[in-house]
Amino acid sequence: MRRLAVLLLSILTAVLGVALLLLHSVPQAVAQGAGMMGGMGGSMPRHHEFMMGRVPEPYASMTNPLPDTAEVIARGRAVFEESCASCHGREGLGNGEAGRELSPPPANLAMLTRMPMMRNDRYLFWAISEGGVPFGTQMPAFKDMLSAEEIWSVVRFLQAEEAPK
Ligand code: HEC
Repeated sequence: MRRLAVLLLSILTAVLGVALLLLHSVPQAVAQGAGMMGGMGGSMPRHHEFMMGRVPEPYASMTNPLPDTAEVIARGRAVFEESCASCHGREGLGNGEAGRELSPPPANLAMLTRMPMMRNDRYLFWAISEGGVPFGTQMPAFKDMLSAEEIWSVVRFLQAEEAPK
């Protein structure tokens, strides 16, 4: 019984992985002119690490200390507009002015945060704190530019219903 459960679980994980790959790479390939990056977005290596359970410490054991309140979300929205919208766009679609020339392009955060797996606290906090440094992309590392509280509030904002759509 246990074996069967493990088997079923790995099949499920594989299926989810493929679905995620498709979901993510199709719009990015279109945005980049298919082929340039082999259709792979800049975030793919990070997604892969996450799916393999390799979010690095200290991020791996973090949870959001801020409550899910309108106040925190409003704060997150302000941080987003100030520090993120230039590249990711006001709606989070990845189409901000400052992101036009970037390759890979800024991620479509509106789409990303609709995926249950990617709404994960420690994934988002890690991605925003370390940015693209580990992966050679232009996503800035915000850990020295924003306080932990500001990053957590932007995480709440991205996860919120009224987040960029
Ligand atoms: C200079 C442009 C730029 C700014 C400013 C910027 N980003 Fe990004 N961001 C990118 C790029 C390019 C990528 C895609 C490459 C990557 O994932 O590393 C990205 C990727 C991401 C990802 C990873 C998505 C995924 O699929 O894993 C998250 C989360 C993110 N950005 C959030 C933010 C937040 C929140 C802010 C503001 C605090 C912000 N970004 C500011 C350019 C930017």
